[in-house]
Amino acid sequence: MTLAFNDLVCGYGDTVVVRGVSGQVVPGKALAVVGRNGVGKSTLLKALAGQLPLTSGRVDWDGQTIVDKPLHTRLELGIAYAPQENVVFGELSVADNLWLHLNDRNVNRYDELFELFPLLQRRLNQRSGSLSGGERKLLSFARTIGLQAKLAMLDEPTEGVQPENIDRMASMVNRRKASGASFIIVEQNLEFVAAFADSVLVLDHGEVVLQGSFAELGRERIEQHMLI
Ligand SMILES: Nc1ncnc2c1ncn2[C@@H]1O[C@H](COP(=O)(O)OP(=O)(O)OP(=O)(O)O)[C@@H](O)[C@H]1O
Ligand SMILES: [Mg+2]
Repeated sequence: MTLAFNDLVCGYGDTVVVRGVSGQVVPGKALAVVGRNGVGKSTLLKALAGQLPLTSGRVDWDGQTIVDKPLHTRLELGIAYAPQENVVFGELSVADNLWLHLNDRNVNRYDELFELFPLLQRRLNQRSGSLSGGERKLLSFARTIGLQAKLAMLDEPTEGVQPENIDRMASMVNRRKASGASFIIVEQNLEFVAAFADSVLVLDHGEVVLQGSFAELGRERIEQHMLI
């Protein structure tokens, strides 16, 4: 199933943040959204997730519009979303955070993730609020991957995560892509982007300034748009 978005315009109150952004992601592929702080990456992802209403534009999933579908309906359709902030429920244990959105407590669901991230398994009974920032990001990543969505949208999943675990996140994304899942990932870490992205969308001031494969665009050109 393909997610296609066209001419998206959205923002907060009278402030327009995303100004006519288009793109798409097909099964088995990953799109990276990059750009400097404050250019509208999270705002774009919130709009794609159904957390922020559009001023105008289209979002189609498998050829059908989902513009009027809220977050939970998009999840039922196979679109998962891990926001940049407030990514875990601090009062709940790591285990409860992992099972939160799931009806079946299939014990094998997280085996693959625990193998890659043994830290999570060791912390299953720990209160999530006492995890470090990077550990919380890892938990949020694992929870979203565990949903086994057709499309997972992740907002800066590697923020504060140890390099070794960032490499493992990239392997996990690539493994899921190989079995047909697609991804839209907002990122600032270009090494990570190079490891998973089939295409890259570079935003500046809410507009697409570069679009193509990582190799086509070249790391230097992308980096130029990320300098302050
Ligand atoms: N809830 C909100 N209300 C009003 N303005 C907001 C809100 N959230 C974000 N903004 C503004 O929208 C603009 C884009 O923010 P956004 O969070 O989308 O940027 P970003 O590219 O994700 O940045 P970062 O790399 O820091 O995460 C910023 O100017 C920000 O101040
Ligand atoms: Mg952001």
